[in-house]
Formats: sequence, C-alpha cells, structure tokens
Amino acid sequence: MPFKISSFEEYQSEYKKSTANPEAFWDDIAKHYQWSKPWDKTLEWEFKTPKVKWFLGGKLNITENCIDRHLKDKGDQKALIWESNDPNEESTSLTYNQLHQEVCKMANVLKSHGIKKGDRVCFYMPMILELGISVLACARIGAIHSVVFAGFSSKALADRIKDASCKMLITSDGINRGGKKIPAKTLVDEALKDCPSIESVLVKRCCGLEINMKAGRDFEIPVELEKVNADCPAEPMDSEDPLFILYTSGSTGKPKGVVHTCGGYMVYAGYSFANVFQYENKDVYWCTADIGWITGHSYILYGPLLNGATSIMFEGIPTFPDAGRFWDVVDKHKVNQFYTAPTAIRALMACGDQHFENKNLSSLKVIGSVGEPINEEAWHWYNDKIGKGNCALVDTWWQTETGGIMLSGLGKHSPMKPSHAGYPLPGIQTVLLDQSGKEIEANQQEGYLAVKFPWPSIIRTTYGDHERCKNVYFSHYDGYYFTGDGAKRDENGMYRVIGRVDDVINCSGHRLGTAEVEDALDEHEEVVESAVVGYPHPIKGQGIYAFVIIDSKMQASEEIKKSIIDTIISEIGPIAKPDKIQFVSGLPKTRSGKIMRRILRKIAEGDTSNLGDVSTLIDPTVVEEIKGGKV
Ligand code: WTA
Repeated sequence: MPFKISSFEEYQSEYKKSTANPEAFWDDIAKHYQWSKPWDKTLEWEFKTPKVKWFLGGKLNITENCIDRHLKDKGDQKALIWESNDPNEESTSLTYNQLHQEVCKMANVLKSHGIKKGDRVCFYMPMILELGISVLACARIGAIHSVVFAGFSSKALADRIKDASCKMLITSDGINRGGKKIPAKTLVDEALKDCPSIESVLVKRCCGLEINMKAGRDFEIPVELEKVNADCPAEPMDSEDPLFILYTSGSTGKPKGVVHTCGGYMVYAGYSFANVFQYENKDVYWCTADIGWITGHSYILYGPLLNGATSIMFEGIPTFPDAGRFWDVVDKHKVNQFYTAPTAIRALMACGDQHFENKNLSSLKVIGSVGEPINEEAWHWYNDKIGKGNCALVDTWWQTETGGIMLSGLGKHSPMKPSHAGYPLPGIQTVLLDQSGKEIEANQQEGYLAVKFPWPSIIRTTYGDHERCKNVYFSHYDGYYFTGDGAKRDENGMYRVIGRVDDVINCSGHRLGTAEVEDALDEHEEVVESAVVGYPHPIKGQGIYAFVIIDSKMQASEEIKKSIIDTIISEIGPIAKPDKIQFVSGLPKTRSGKIMRRILRKIAEGDTSNLGDVSTLIDPTVVEEIKGGKV
C-alpha cells in the first residue's frame, strides 16, 4: 500500500480501494506512523449524534511523529525556516534536532506553569518560530492549543478565551506587519480584563514595543526557558483525545470552536500533505498562510513535519516592501512547493508584471491555491506567469472542519482544469445533493457538496456544544456531513466549488458569518438594525456590503460611517470591515419578520433588473428606496 501515490492510475486504484473497504485502507495508511500502542478498532461511526472515532484504543503523540521519528535520519536537516517581515533581516532556521530541543524546553516551561494534559492554551501571536515551537510544546504534553488569528480584536480574543476557559495565553509584545507594528500585548491586556480563567501569560519580544508586564501573571519566554532542561518525554495520548480547538465562523451565532483529535488528524494531515504536494526528500516547501487559520495548522506545521519536510514560516505580507516579495523568497530559498490564496494571487496580479518578470522561479514544481474559488483569470496568471506552464497547479478545497485537503490534484499526477479543484482524495466520499437531499448521480450538474462517509480528520465536535455540531453539519441532510458549499461536476466528474450556499461570506479567504457582522454593527449606539451580504469583489473574492438603519434623529454622514467601521474593528477586527455601507430607512422583510437577503444580494451585486417576487414583503416600497440609494 503506497503512502505516496505516484500516478493517476494509482490514484484511481487507491480511491477504489478506499471506498470499497475504508477501514482496511486507513488501517494500512495509519501503520506508516509511530504509535506507542496500536489501535484495537479502526472506526466507529454514525452521523446522527454525530459520533465518529478513529483508531480506537491507539496511543500516540503527534510530536513524536513530527519530530522524534526523524531525528535518526534527518536530525541536521532544516525543519522550519523563518523568513522575517523585514527583507534585510537574516532568515533563521531550526533543524529537526534543534526543533526537538526547543519544543521539549518549551513544554517544560508550560509544565512549570501548571499546564497539564487537557488544559487549554490560547495563542495570539505573529508568525515567529516561538509560535510553531509552543504549539508543538502543547501537543507534546497533551495540552489543547487554541490559536487565535492575531488580526482579531481584543473583544474577539476574549470571547474565544472564555469559550474554551483557557488557562494560559502565549503572545508577543507586538506584530510586524509590513510597515506597521500592531501592539499585540496591549490588545491582550485589554482582553484579559474579562478573562478570569487565564493564570499566566508568556511573552516573546519581537517588535521592540514598550509593554506592561503584570507581576505574577506575565512572564518573558527567554527567561522562563533558562530555568528548564531539554528533556521532556512525549505524553502518550489516546487517539481520540483532543489535539486542538480552532474557532471558525458559521451562518449563525458566534464563532464556534472546531475540535480535532490526535490520531485521525495526524493520519490525514500527513497523508494529504504527502500526496497533494508530492513532497520529495530535501525539497523546500512554503505555505504563506498564518498559523491562526487551519491552513497554517495542517500545512505549515503538522503535515510537513509529519513528512520530515522543510517548511517555511513567513512573518510578512505579500506586498511589503513590494509586490515581488513572495517571488524573492521563492528564489532565496529555492522553494519547490508554494501554497497561497487566490486573494493574494489577484492582488499581486493587479500590481503589474515588473514584480515577477526578473525573478527566476525555476525551483517551483507544485503551486497550490486554497481558501476560496480561484477564478479563471487568476488561475491562468498563476499557472502561466508564476508556474511558467511547468508546474502542477493544485486547487485545494477543504475547510477548518475537514482538518485536511478533500478535493485536489495530487501534484503532477492529476489532470488540471482552470478553476476546478478536481477529484476527491482517497478515502473522501464526496457527493452532490439536490434540494431534497437526494444524491445527484449524473455529471455536469450543480448541487450541495456533502460527504457520506467519515475520514480520519473529520470535525469531532464544536467545543462545549455538541448539539451545535450536529445542527450545523449533520442535520441538513440525514446521513451526510454538509459542507455549506455549492459545487458542480464536469463531464469527467471533476469538481468545481462555486462558493458558500449559506450566510457565510468569504472575504479575502477569511470566513465571516453575516450574523456575526450584523451583531457587531448592532453594537453601535446609533445603529437600529442592519443586514449584511457578500458581493463579488475583484481582489477579495467577496466584499462585505452592509445595509444599515440608523436612529432617525441622526443624519447619515461620513463620520457615522467611520465610527461604524471603528465599532466593527473593535468587535471583530479589521478583517470584518464592510467595504460598502448603505444607509436605508427599512429592510425588505417578509411578514414573518425574515430579511429577504436574496434581494439585498442582488442589489449589492448591482443587478437590480430582476429582483424576483417581492409580493410577500411587508413593505415592497423599501426595495425601490434601497435600489435608488447611494453607498
Ligand atoms: C472555501 C480553509 C473554493 C469554501 C481551508 C469552504 C474554497 C471555506 C476552496 C472554508 C477552494 C476553501 N475552492 N472554495 N479551493 N478552499 N474554500 O474553514 O467555501 O477557512 O467552505 O478553510 O473556504 O474555509 P476555512
């Protein structure tokens, strides 16, 4: 049984095997990892409750598989390379030996602060090596990490800390982002006014910012590291013990904590990395995501390290100091596999050819895309200008909840088609459903993307609220995991993912619930009611369009707009800033009080010619007003 597939024919036969007998298939794959106790049973599942368990009774530690296992052959090979925000700063790296030492030391620091198996540790940090090291240190001792993207506001951070009752927070003085410095520790101090569960805060200075250190609570990481040794045996974890929580937005309510477990997540993160990127010994791999998102978890840290790869951690942004930065880094480190998001591709495409024309880029073998649909123009630019027609372009569709890549080409072994993610990975039984939940058998049809059989890294629960996991993913269609995406298959069965079919906006590859943005808008004193929809945006994929009713005593003005935006920044963070705000006097509501978003979406798209049936609205005249309104 090959762990890494090496032709399309082999993919087809592996796929067949994986569906004919999934247990036997995953049994064989899982044997490629190191377990301290083998599992007794491969799979138990039902999608009603839901309850899914993989490799039952097995014991393992993912860091032994990510690090210790490679020490014999690859101890001196680079595991992580760090590339600074500042192009003039030397890049640094850690070999597998060094990473082992650093992770063990950091794990001992966590222990010395009372962190034990099962405790939750929150992260609010830039992309520096200490982030990778400390996340792995949690896994080493069985603490559950919850990384919060450091672009979220202190309020959003506090919500996430409280939801998981985190005991420790790991942060930095600030964050270097292009020419700016973001005062991370100050934001943390604000958040912690309201988070009694946090007992200690570990801080790494990387920005030279003045910060307050609260005696007895805040500790400097280098000082703490001086006090410990580098000996830390890995905690044997049950296959189904939680490994991490990662918050993500849905169509209703507050963001939810997606829970992944040790065994299944490990098996799938490693397997999918090896196959999609076709990593070969000594290659240098670079994923530009942030570890605050699932892509960073699975394909900067865990997936690459499980395969003994060399993975780059990049602190900066694509356009600093100029729009050639990505390509400079590719040439500097001779990157072989490069993985980024369509929003970055489109932004760089718009900056002009001069930024890549003088770059070499010949080291590239596989270029990947993730996070949102890649439109044909961006696909061709990426393939022709960056891949120079010589690379495999893998469009990878997956989600925080799936833990790993579900639909994608496998390096150069799969057919490529613009804007098509392609075929499911072995073990992934995707289907398209019609409105009534019936499987669409024929190709060239559109439907709701769902999965009918569990794979090892499927979401296990939403932290502290299993009912929510059931309602969001398993109740729409009996017996299926529902993705929230719409998709189409072409005549050969290749999938093209079209986008969300629920009230989730994908803005620059960031997932935001319309309800979440509306709740934040409603926090503004003068906002009476609001409705938020997504609309096509040339760079961001989708932009955020807010229809807002303000207090009748107030005059609509640029000032109010600005203060509304400030409210969003403080409630969620700059990633949720509306691109357009339109003041309206009413919203199109049905008699039952539901906002007819379909109409608002059409107006936001600028397509007002056919708004469909508006007769069920309480007051159809509001539609005319909104149509004629200004942004
Ligand atoms: C969207 C990111 C089209 C999709 C890994 C999904 C995509 C959501 C693709 C998950 C793709 C991700 N083509 N759409 N290749 N990749 N999406 O949880 O709508 O941040 O449901 O995970 O992004 O976003 P999340």
